[in-house]
Amino acid sequence: MRVLVLNGPNLNLLGHREPHLYGSTTLAEIEARLGELAAELGVTIECRQSNHEGVLVDWIHGAKGAFDAILFNAGAYTHTSIALRDALAAVGLPTIEVHLSNVHAREEFRRHSMLAPVCRGVISGFGPLSYLLALRALIDNKRSES
Ligand code: DQA
Repeated sequence: MRVLVLNGPNLNLLGHREPHLYGSTTLAEIEARLGELAAELGVTIECRQSNHEGVLVDWIHGAKGAFDAILFNAGAYTHTSIALRDALAAVGLPTIEVHLSNVHAREEFRRHSMLAPVCRGVISGFGPLSYLLALRALIDNKRSES
């Protein structure tokens, strides 16, 4: 199983960005932990980050045939991007929406996700653990299908 791990805008600044909200772990550290878990569980992951919506759309399109599932923290685009939602719906790969913070405990505008309706599920509020839980969920979900 091959999982594409996508991170959207500002997540390259993790570790330094608003640490009271997002903690002190960097994106590179999260990706390293995910890599260890992936190896343990016998799946492969590829991690990418972009601050650009169109680049994320292109990567989602390219995932069809190359990956079996997507783990996605779209950052602020979660709450605004019909283009990312349409891209996920178009490729139809099982996707889990991930957030470090509990978006439901924050500002009103973060409580709505454009992406959640086309995702298998949402994991939000567990810091870097959200990513690890999402990888386990994707694998479990995929294996229970086959
Ligand atoms: C975030 C939550 C979003 O609302 C915010 O715009 C982010 C990070 C999270 O991981 O908690 O950039 O996706």
